[in-house]
Amino acid sequence: MPLHVLTHPLAAHLVTHLRDKTTEPATFRRLTHQLSLLLALKATHDLPTREIPIDTPLEHTAGRVLIKPLVVVPILRAGLGMVETIVDLFPDVSIGYIGLERDHTTAIARSYYCKLPPLEGTRILLVDPMLATGGSAVNALDVIAQRGGQDMHLLNVVASPEGVRAVEKAHPNVPIYAAALDRELDSRKYILPGLGDFGDRLYGT
Ligand code: URA
Repeated sequence: MPLHVLTHPLAAHLVTHLRDKTTEPATFRRLTHQLSLLLALKATHDLPTREIPIDTPLEHTAGRVLIKPLVVVPILRAGLGMVETIVDLFPDVSIGYIGLERDHTTAIARSYYCKLPPLEGTRILLVDPMLATGGSAVNALDVIAQRGGQDMHLLNVVASPEGVRAVEKAHPNVPIYAAALDRELDSRKYILPGLGDFGDRLYGT
């Protein structure tokens, strides 16, 4: 159940341009926004709603409104590139931040920042563009669960089989939404074919 890979042709189109090493940061950011939109819609397709009465200019009728508070938690720093789109879609969303730094030699995630809103009763969207070893995602999901988070969903642009397995093992009830499932990790724990370092490409560093 947990892995859902986007099947919309637009997702494949956007990921292809994102992978291209000649894509400049400004275009990379726009493609990230567009993919985040597709991922966020997919990860919220089952949000609960409540019926309310309303008056249109023509008649009295009933409509439906969202009832479950939403929280988005980017893993810093690359996850920040996915937040704005979700805030545009859901203006009432609360935002938490988890800072995890990947040691480039060991590929192990180290936490350096954590600020989360109240999580009880919310739908939590944890956003991290690259699910590589799964270490950061598992670490962040652990923290969110310890703070009372229950309805957690993970959104990635590109996932690796290793990362998916790690998240499935540690958090079997957390659905993963990805725009692409890639082949494998290389010896430096980069995703292949991947797109390189997402944060560097997003921010031009
Ligand atoms: N993080 C990235 O930005 N890229 C990868 O390939 C793996 C982790």
